[in-house]
Amino acid sequence: YGTIGVIGAMKEEIELFHEGMKGVTQTVKAGITFYEGTFHDRSIVLCKSGVGKVNAAVTTQILIDTFGVEAVLFTGVAGAVDPGLDVGDIVVSTECLQHDMDVTALGFPRGTIPYEATSLFAADEKLRKLAAEVSAELFGARVKEGRVLSGDQFISSRETVSQLYTELSGACTEMEGAAVAQACSMNGIPFVIIRSMSDKADGSAHVNFAEFTQQASENSFRIIDGMLQRL
Ligand code: ADE
Repeated sequence: YGTIGVIGAMKEEIELFHEGMKGVTQTVKAGITFYEGTFHDRSIVLCKSGVGKVNAAVTTQILIDTFGVEAVLFTGVAGAVDPGLDVGDIVVSTECLQHDMDVTALGFPRGTIPYEATSLFAADEKLRKLAAEVSAELFGARVKEGRVLSGDQFISSRETVSQLYTELSGACTEMEGAAVAQACSMNGIPFVIIRSMSDKADGSAHVNFAEFTQQASENSFRIIDGMLQRL
């Protein structure tokens, strides 16, 4: 790959990269700051997309068009959906789905984008294998490869989270991954989403999120850090 785009949604998710970058130049576009420079001697463009699918999609398209990135890595935190996942555990995306896409009134299954060839956006095989390898070395059995569900909703109810698990087979839920995934797919750019669990998307999610986002962000950073040393 040439230049690699690294996206996080929030400050906590990108600041460790920022500290490790060299020769940084800064550009603002669409209100988003893009940091070009090197990380472990690799050319990267780091940015904080902001929260939600629109921010994530716009950021991804700019990374591709303006900065010519040839791969996109997303780092951050998520709510665990798979009951086998605990706070701090890792999900490496196999594919992404927008759980809030709902055209069921017209007969489309939940999560289906009408008239598109697919609504499941597959992560790049090579990137996800590397992510899984690095994750396993760092976190052992606390890693799952699975489906990342995204929606413009912070999930904080046990009923909702169990629905996301049984109906949509999610491993975790967050608010950007599937938008990055769709934008990358539309442009033929490989991607993978790495998420560390900050909460379990249940009634305690808001408290856990506040308490564990820092640690979970660091977990996710360490994986992409390891990946960039091998890419
Ligand atoms: N990101 C971290 N936790 C989340 C949750 N419970 N719902 C949506 N996005 C999240």
